[in-house]
Amino acid sequence: MSGRTGDRLTFPAGFCWGAATAAYQIEGGAKEDGRTPSIWDTFADTPGAVAGGDTGEVAADHYHRYAEDVALMRELGLHAYRFSVSWPRVQPTGRGLANPAGLDFYDRLVDQLLAVGITPMLTLYHWDLPQELEDAGGWPHRETAYRFADYATLVAGRLGDRVPQWTTINEPWCAGFLGYASGEHAPGRTEPAASLAAVHHLLLGHGLAVKALRAGLPSHARASLVLNLATVRAAGPTEADLDAVRRVDGLANRLFLDPVIAGQYPTDVLDDLAHLTDWSFVHSGDLATIATPIDLLGVNYYQPTLVGAASSPANGTPADANTAPEGQRRLIVQAPDAGTAPSAWPGCEGVQFHPAPGPVTAMGWPVDATGLRDVLLRVHRDYPGLPLMVTENGAAYPDDLADGAVHDRDRIAYLSSHLAAVHEAVRSGVDLRGYLVWSLLDNFEWAWGYAQRFGIVHVDYQDQRRTLKDSAHWFADVIRHNGPMVDGGIAGVRAE
Ligand code: FCB
Repeated sequence: MSGRTGDRLTFPAGFCWGAATAAYQIEGGAKEDGRTPSIWDTFADTPGAVAGGDTGEVAADHYHRYAEDVALMRELGLHAYRFSVSWPRVQPTGRGLANPAGLDFYDRLVDQLLAVGITPMLTLYHWDLPQELEDAGGWPHRETAYRFADYATLVAGRLGDRVPQWTTINEPWCAGFLGYASGEHAPGRTEPAASLAAVHHLLLGHGLAVKALRAGLPSHARASLVLNLATVRAAGPTEADLDAVRRVDGLANRLFLDPVIAGQYPTDVLDDLAHLTDWSFVHSGDLATIATPIDLLGVNYYQPTLVGAASSPANGTPADANTAPEGQRRLIVQAPDAGTAPSAWPGCEGVQFHPAPGPVTAMGWPVDATGLRDVLLRVHRDYPGLPLMVTENGAAYPDDLADGAVHDRDRIAYLSSHLAAVHEAVRSGVDLRGYLVWSLLDNFEWAWGYAQRFGIVHVDYQDQRRTLKDSAHWFADVIRHNGPMVDGGIAGVRAE
């Protein structure tokens, strides 16, 4: 039972506490042991694509320091660790035989985790497509979905005996729309019609991979998908404002949830996008494959989304695709009503994105924990019966390492307000199995490079030294007590 004991919120018995990372963001070792370039290596080498010209070539050097990192996880008391496998490390050409040296790395990592009692949660695809597959057409090309299922089979064959929890794809919205429509992420293409084919093939790849996992894994292993779902709110009261909400909710949420859970695309979204594509890439039988049952849905949440009609007066100033900070553009992207800037929101011409009121993180992302509560309640209401897990939640702040400590009170406040919101959702009946903080380590934050720090563990990129931030001590305390102090209490943090 969840509830409140004294000054603490308590979560249900068995609630899973953990942290998440992704291969390209932390591993480095980009040219070692047979690994070939992924689309992110190529993109990061493209002038102007990533802030500061940063690349993932070294990153947090986790490829060599994984044992030290697992020791830190143990010190924090994590129950689970969510990591991703680098596809070009284990199958360098994206097809054919596995690269045993690449698989060996994950084999060692998994054994190290199990040795200290941490459950490995493996994500097969966190955006690092082998460059060879992009050269052959990438995700807009149907064949890529089949290659993904083959890759899933290879990884399951080697690690299936020890990894109980599998995720196919992380955030297909980002991989499809930021990668192929707005071009803010690898491979940097700005082709709205191709982005819709990419989304379909990412979903098809998911379904095919779930089938491959079911065939290759022991029956107790669980399969999941991770989505970055949005809490979409109206900036104004008009019908046009509500239509903006419908369109953005359609593209951010229902375009993914409906096929995966109910085996159909939402007809209003198909109509919204009919001027861009005839959907002929959806073949008969695809939707049944995409709807292959999963055991758990992962929800990643960072900020709420506020939209209205382009003409509607609303709170605050509209976010402008040309002046908003880059990270803000990741979720607050002006639709191309003038037909100019590439947008991550095809079919949302005439929609205006607004910054939500209130404080923001270093990314410029509004802090509003009610958005997390509401997105969990919404999935529970509209797509009942599927266990959920918060698979990413966290915040970047300008951390200051001094005297071997990082007093990141803003991050603790962010995390504790979001845990209180998660707790409300659980008390309202949401079947929530766990909460994973993003991220264990500071890392390569995609188009932002190393400029943004999301870790609860600080990484000094000069000497790769790790330092537990105050938020890490705080999170360890939360885990020990199965819940945080009420009202942002910061038990577990050393006095300054
Ligand atoms: C999510 C990504 C993750 C990280 C966080 C901040 O969209 O899945 O890799 O970049 O945002």
